[in-house]
Amino acid sequence: MVERRIRIAEVRGSTPLESTKDFKMTFLNQQTIEEFYDKVRFLWGAEPNRHVKHVPELIKSGRVLDVGVGEGRNALFLAEKGFDVTGIDISQTAIKKFLRLAEQRNLKVTGVAIDALEFEPDVGYDVVICTAVLHYFSAEQAKRLMRKMKQYTNEGGINLLTVFTKDDQGFKQYPEFHFFEDEEELREMYGDWQILKCERYTKEEEHGGSEPHVHDIAVLLARNKIQD
Ligand SMILES: C[S@@+](CC[C@H](N)C(=O)[O-])C[C@H]1O[C@@H](n2cnc3c(N)ncnc32)[C@H](O)[C@@H]1O
Repeated sequence: MVERRIRIAEVRGSTPLESTKDFKMTFLNQQTIEEFYDKVRFLWGAEPNRHVKHVPELIKSGRVLDVGVGEGRNALFLAEKGFDVTGIDISQTAIKKFLRLAEQRNLKVTGVAIDALEFEPDVGYDVVICTAVLHYFSAEQAKRLMRKMKQYTNEGGINLLTVFTKDDQGFKQYPEFHFFEDEEELREMYGDWQILKCERYTKEEEHGGSEPHVHDIAVLLARNKIQD
């Protein structure tokens, strides 16, 4: 019975394993992330990102790279839809958790613990996603990583990125993080691709037992042009 209850909690998703009363922060540094990945069942929620849910409408199959995969809420969703998924993350704890969750769902995925800037794939990807990760990089590093993500993408493939903007309430509070000026900063990076979506929105969040908070987010969805 106890085992069954645990399974139900896993399926429903965001039930914290232990009290996380002290988790009030809207942004976590790498050390805190490590700590909470072990404590909280789904630190960023179990539901895939709202934009990732639409990826299968654009591309039916192929290889996916999730940069900063975390616990894998997006990667697992795409693996369930039949994509061949690789998730990379600088956190070993994240990768172990991602692989464990995949195994529990009988999904075959690849997980690599590596700094995204060091990752050099020997294949191309049809979909590259990177949600809520680029604030861990400097402006120069974030641009370098975006250029790399574009390079890894097959012709006709897509990139999906979400970032936090300077209108986010965390901008003044967390000087160690990189906030984007606005969605135009993303658009500029993808000027040579077909832009499918480039917009900004606010989102109320409460994940992993955190205090409720609102984020100001920019999203970019773009397709690599097919060369003739
Ligand atoms: C806020 S979480 C988002 C996780 C996932 N993308 C999602 O939307 O659920 C950010 C993730 O980026 C990872 N990360 C931070 N710096 C990284 C780096 N240099 N290379 C790869 N991953 C990194 C963190 O370990 C963390 O798992």
